[in-house]
Amino acid sequence: MIVYRTKNDLTRHLDTLRKSGKSIGLVPTMGALHRGHASLVKIAKDQNDAIVVSIFVNPSQFNDPADLEAYPRTLDLDLEMLQGLKADLVFVPSVQEMYPDEVIRTFDLGNLERTMEGAQRKGHFQGVAQIVSRLFETVAPHRAYFGQKDFQQLVVVRRLVEILGLDLEIVACPIIRDEDGLAMSSRNVRLSREERKAAPFVHITLQLAREKRGSMSPAEVKMWVELRFKEQPIMKLEYFEIVEDKELMPVTNWGEQVNKVGCVAVQLGKIRLIDNLIFD
Ligand code: PAF
Repeated sequence: MIVYRTKNDLTRHLDTLRKSGKSIGLVPTMGALHRGHASLVKIAKDQNDAIVVSIFVNPSQFNDPADLEAYPRTLDLDLEMLQGLKADLVFVPSVQEMYPDEVIRTFDLGNLERTMEGAQRKGHFQGVAQIVSRLFETVAPHRAYFGQKDFQQLVVVRRLVEILGLDLEIVACPIIRDEDGLAMSSRNVRLSREERKAAPFVHITLQLAREKRGSMSPAEVKMWVELRFKEQPIMKLEYFEIVEDKELMPVTNWGEQVNKVGCVAVQLGKIRLIDNLIFD
């Protein structure tokens, strides 16, 4: 495994691989790696001749400076895990390396940045698009791997690929959960014992909500979920929406011929948890 800190060194290596016809997979991360990331790395390794894992806590996607400050940084452990997973190349750039100039690109993400996470975290998806576009430019991968847990991010990245006209496959990887159903996230380590115990309520609620399809309309399911969270004092529901998977518009009727996804965000202590479930 080779760790690169500059774009020049990384691209020099990647050019050699490309010249010998090797396929390249990219796994973008912000570090604090867990089993969810490990599964992306394994899938990427299976599908490509060589993979690049990037580790970069991207300041432009944090709308809350305290969240950026508190974001877990565990580089030594991350590198150890990646070594064990036989990652080929790891890219650990500095902020200056990724943002050498003030030029800020903006992308027309339409409704994708106005709804759900976009509404709650102003500018977040422009920040994600900034860094992901720069990583795509640097690595020029054949495939890039994103977890379905950040479902809205996945849809945004697919839109970004369309906007940039890139010949690149975005591979969506299944959500990895703890045994009690909590979706893996780097922020979970910051939950208190009591919060961690309460957290699976989110996934259980999504599952129960999906079962209500037979007897309730989408609007009724939404109301049912909102009521259920009101009875759970430790968490505050930010949103629950059942949306289609292209523009993320709310589903109003189960008969609509679209892929339906239930998406939820809650505040639990100082931590925001997001999760989702395919409702088809
Ligand atoms: O999902 C993440 O960890 C980040 O949003 C990403 C895609 C690495 C961009 O910084």
